[in-house]
Amino acid sequence: MRRKIVILGATGSIGKSTIDLIERSPDRFEVVAVTAATNSEALADIAARTGARLAVVADESRFEDLSARLAGTNCRGASGEEALVEAATVEADLVIAAIVGCAGLSPTMAAVEAGRIVALANKEALVTAGELMTEAAEKHGATLLPVDSEHNAIFQCLAGNRREDVSRLILTASGGPFRTTSIAAMRDATPAQAVAHPNWSMGAKISVDSATLMNKGLELIEAHYLFGLSSSRMDVLIHPQSVIHSLVEYVDGSVLAQLGSPDMRVPIAYALAWPERMETPAQRLDLAAIAKLDFEAPDLERFPALRLAREALEAGGSAPIVLNAANEVAVASFLAGEIRLTDIAAIVERVLAENGNAAPSSIGQVLEIDRATREHVHDMMKAVCS
Ligand SMILES: NC(=O)c1ccc[n+]([C@@H]2O[C@H](COP(=O)([O-])OP(=O)(O)OC[C@H]3O[C@@H](n4cnc5c(N)ncnc54)[C@H](OP(=O)(O)O)[C@@H]3O)[C@@H](O)[C@H]2O)c1
Repeated sequence: MRRKIVILGATGSIGKSTIDLIERSPDRFEVVAVTAATNSEALADIAARTGARLAVVADESRFEDLSARLAGTNCRGASGEEALVEAATVEADLVIAAIVGCAGLSPTMAAVEAGRIVALANKEALVTAGELMTEAAEKHGATLLPVDSEHNAIFQCLAGNRREDVSRLILTASGGPFRTTSIAAMRDATPAQAVAHPNWSMGAKISVDSATLMNKGLELIEAHYLFGLSSSRMDVLIHPQSVIHSLVEYVDGSVLAQLGSPDMRVPIAYALAWPERMETPAQRLDLAAIAKLDFEAPDLERFPALRLAREALEAGGSAPIVLNAANEVAVASFLAGEIRLTDIAAIVERVLAENGNAAPSSIGQVLEIDRATREHVHDMMKAVCS
């Protein structure tokens, strides 16, 4: 029996890596539904290549184009929010949640509520609704498999051990393209420089988050919800080679690490084949050639986003939602050339300081806090720029 797969965010970096793996093992997997935001051309191409029976484009204005491209195939086209949820809940064995940003929250939550195995790349969904999502997973018998390389590494290091024997999680970070850059030079960084990650090839938003270290902050919040440890028991360690993907320290002083070349196909393959393993084309590690692994503490002065994310995690309530929404808007503005890289954390800090911090009790409330924060940040940026 082939495993039936839904790919939410099929046209993105994680989506494409997933399809690459599936095409290498056609006897193991069958793609049943795929989604995109606007890229109907790439989506129709993916549907044709994989044989998916449902293709959903979130942007309704792209529906006609998608339908025309799917004409004569066995794949049905659809568009809009409800259709995304339909794709997330069609009969399947595994849902790859790889939409970027809070936009992935509703479909990912729908897959969780349908009791699916969810391979979670969309960290913003867990950052904004971690408690609601983990509670729903328990209630509906869903399984969350982390695809983020750090969380996947921790998941692997936890296998076969008791959670109560864990003393600390250590998330590694490459440090991004500006690891050794001064604040003054970071002020003048261009979007092209910010997305040029030294080790990983990723979508634009996560690449900017890696450049500010907000990505590592979001990952701390993600790790808290996935593994249940408090902020004080999670450290961040800069490791420029990205060979050790994260570590778990146990009460006896043993530290387990997961290593591998920096290729997202390794953690994606882990989730696709779980609880088995599958072949990947990832380059094998040659530790003798690498020779040396470096480590350093993060510099919170140059990378305030990491501090802000930790503060949001510790504050709880709506703080992680506000942090995430303000960051998403600010990153989009930076990529559009409207603000400086260093403005991103400044905007997030200001919005967090004004936050009343009421805890949301439903996904509707999460989405409302997200919407209101985005509006507030847009107004704030308009006022500063005018
Ligand atoms: N890339 C990595 O190596 C990596 C590693 C770890 C974790 N992650 C996480 O995985 C997620 C995806 O990252 P990525 O790098 O693959 O991003 P990406 O390359 O930008 O792709 C994003 C995907 O989401 C779709 N999308 C964007 N906005 C949407 C919306 N409003 N509604 C529905 N679909 C939407 C895009 O469709 P269009 O193509 O039509 O725009 C695309 O398919 C992120 O949460 C990221 O943090 C990524």
